[in-house]
Amino acid sequence: MHGHDLGLGIAENYRAFAEEARGRSPVYEQLAASVAEDAVVLRFLGSLPPEKRQPNLLFAAARYLLGVTPALDGLRALATRGRSELAGVIRARRTQTNEPARCATLLPALAQLPPPLALIEVGASAGLTLLFDRYSYDFAGHRITGSDPLAPVLRCEPRGQAPLPARLPEITWRAGLDLNPLDVTSDDDVRWLSCLVWPGEGDREQRLAAAIATARRDPPVIHRGDLRTDLPALAAQAPPGATLVIYHSAVLAYLTPAGRRRFAGTVRALPAVWLSNEGPGVVPEQPIPPYQGTPFVLARDGRTPLALTDSHGTWLNWLPGPG
Ligand SMILES: C[S@@+](CC[C@H](N)C(=O)[O-])C[C@H]1O[C@@H](n2cnc3c(N)ncnc32)[C@H](O)[C@@H]1O
Repeated sequence: MHGHDLGLGIAENYRAFAEEARGRSPVYEQLAASVAEDAVVLRFLGSLPPEKRQPNLLFAAARYLLGVTPALDGLRALATRGRSELAGVIRARRTQTNEPARCATLLPALAQLPPPLALIEVGASAGLTLLFDRYSYDFAGHRITGSDPLAPVLRCEPRGQAPLPARLPEITWRAGLDLNPLDVTSDDDVRWLSCLVWPGEGDREQRLAAAIATARRDPPVIHRGDLRTDLPALAAQAPPGATLVIYHSAVLAYLTPAGRRRFAGTVRALPAVWLSNEGPGVVPEQPIPPYQGTPFVLARDGRTPLALTDSHGTWLNWLPGPG
């Protein structure tokens, strides 16, 4: 979800999305720009609740129904002759993109903590960002081998003095928390996850498929619940004797500022290390390092920025300082 999804006109929102997709997904850039000029699709979107009008959700739902990314004509046909089917998928589904490569950008911070680790990921989606120790990594030639030989190798360019670990930390316990957990053993959920990857984004789709296959060999546990209210009960289940790490990436932007503050208060009161990997300004009161482009900020305990990270995990820029 992005700020421009809220409160702006629908056409304007699609134009802003076209800008965002430029250079990343020419197909979505073109499609979003055409939707912004198309009365038929705009009317269909206007019939949906405001939080269901986002380009990401419309395009993923169309792909889910058609099996391919439609051009404008295909979207118009869905929005008219197929309107109840399309609205049905949009109402039932949410944007829950799960990017396993984000594990590479979180790994150096995790590996600095005293092992063994107990992990809670809030906003875990399908749990692919809970499987740090199963993937292998290639940080520009610095390789680390994970426990599953069939798992994908996550490639990430380290910048700055990133403290790259020699081996993966021992993880003794892990659990996810999500409003709507996706199930890697469900073919429907897996298809939805792959429809959320934008067309033209290099190897993201293959990486996702390989990570899903990894998760299917031993699915992570993800509890249904709200990170604003259900975290303390889950944290109480973590085993003693392990460093409890509560972390999230690409999640807090879905909350209102009051919800974010409430979560920050809850997590600070728990005996845990808090790692956040979110857009600049999303974590309340966290200092914003100077940055260019649209990275995430990896921070500890909501206060100390450690690194700027690519939102899709392809690079990590470790910041000088206490981290
Ligand atoms: C964009 S996905 C990110 C998934 C994963 N963290 C990653 O980095 O790939 C955001 C997830 O946060 C979940 N979420 C949003 N608000 C939540 C809340 N209040 N409590 C629990 N989960 C929430 C959504 O259901 C969704 O699965």
